[in-house]
Amino acid sequence: LITSVRLRRILDSRGNPTVEADVLTESGGFGRAAAPSGASTGEYEAIELPPNEAISAARKHAVPRLVGEVHAGNQREVDGALRAADGTDSFSEIGANSAVAISMAAAKAGADVLGAPLYQHLGGTFRGDNFPIPLGNVVGGGEHAKDATHIQEFLAAPVGAPSVAEAVFANAEVHAKAADILDDRGISAAKGDEGAWAPAVDDAEAFDIMAEAVDAVADDRGFEIKFGLDMAGAELFEDGEYHYGDETKSTDEQIDYVAGLVDDYDLAYVEDPLDEDDYEGFAELTDRVGDKTLICGDDLFVTNVERLQEGIDTDAANSILIKPNQIGTLTDAFDAIELATEHGYDSVISHRSGETEDTTIAHLAVATDAPFIKTGTVQGERTAKLNELIRIAEDAV
Ligand code: PGA
Ligand code: ZN
Repeated sequence: LITSVRLRRILDSRGNPTVEADVLTESGGFGRAAAPSGASTGEYEAIELPPNEAISAARKHAVPRLVGEVHAGNQREVDGALRAADGTDSFSEIGANSAVAISMAAAKAGADVLGAPLYQHLGGTFRGDNFPIPLGNVVGGGEHAKDATHIQEFLAAPVGAPSVAEAVFANAEVHAKAADILDDRGISAAKGDEGAWAPAVDDAEAFDIMAEAVDAVADDRGFEIKFGLDMAGAELFEDGEYHYGDETKSTDEQIDYVAGLVDDYDLAYVEDPLDEDDYEGFAELTDRVGDKTLICGDDLFVTNVERLQEGIDTDAANSILIKPNQIGTLTDAFDAIELATEHGYDSVISHRSGETEDTTIAHLAVATDAPFIKTGTVQGERTAKLNELIRIAEDAV
């Protein structure tokens, strides 16, 4: 049984406060986890409250339903208690930030009771033995950096890497190579929230830099490295058009543009190419290029089984981004992954632009046999997950 839940404010990677939870059990199990936070958040995400409010509401409503009441090792029981304590679909009472921190901390306490690593507790012995390929943010802008690219993220995708470690190091090398190319071209660049280079170049030049960087590293490493995008289409979309600075594209033009990019650059991955309400546009693009690339819904699906079901019914995509804090609990995230898998959708487990040293998503990716994980390239709060993946792979794969 859970005997104590402590909540506190800690710093995230943007320097903002976020919620951390400690869960203790009767038999001495301990788990600690922290909520991440988005900047280009989807309209349909669960609600993040100011940490102070989320903490006091969770202390009042959730903690009494957990302490002495539920088992840390029974995730559905824990997450059911969180849902009951909140009473809304969107966690607007206790905050999805309190909910996800407690949900993940309870899972870690449950693993600790068993003396098992978290991925083993969550995935069990019948999980697959694949390792997730990390998608590494190398160049970007959008809501994550000012005066940089319109497209939010250009992501290295080391699809031919023989191991997690090789993939992790390849992404870091692509990141370094991009810096060299920028330097050669006399372009200075700050870094965005996730540690990607945020140069003041147009998107065409960013494509050029990415193509050159991944080709150079692929040659050097001797395995295939592609790249992909998070277009964060909902952030580009306003008044019925996609805005790239002064240029605009209609939905049809956006679909043509993205389909052309997939062909021109042999993209491995395209996240949120269209607005978060445009299932129809997603479906048309997936019909055109879905056999060549992953079309992934982030703001479209927000890790929500109902929105995913609508995507499945309309053939809107072929993969889903999974962010536990978008929906509030690990149970909800698992349900989304399970529904995705049943319908041939790939799951991409993801960090947020505001992160902590928490490594839960590395374990979640291995536990669920997810083919991809998106968790940055360099910078401490990102390397925390990447290095954890390397350790897990040594143990588990
Ligand atoms: P966010 O961005 O964490 O700022 O929402 C990441 C993403 O869009 O995938
Ligand atoms: Zn996204």
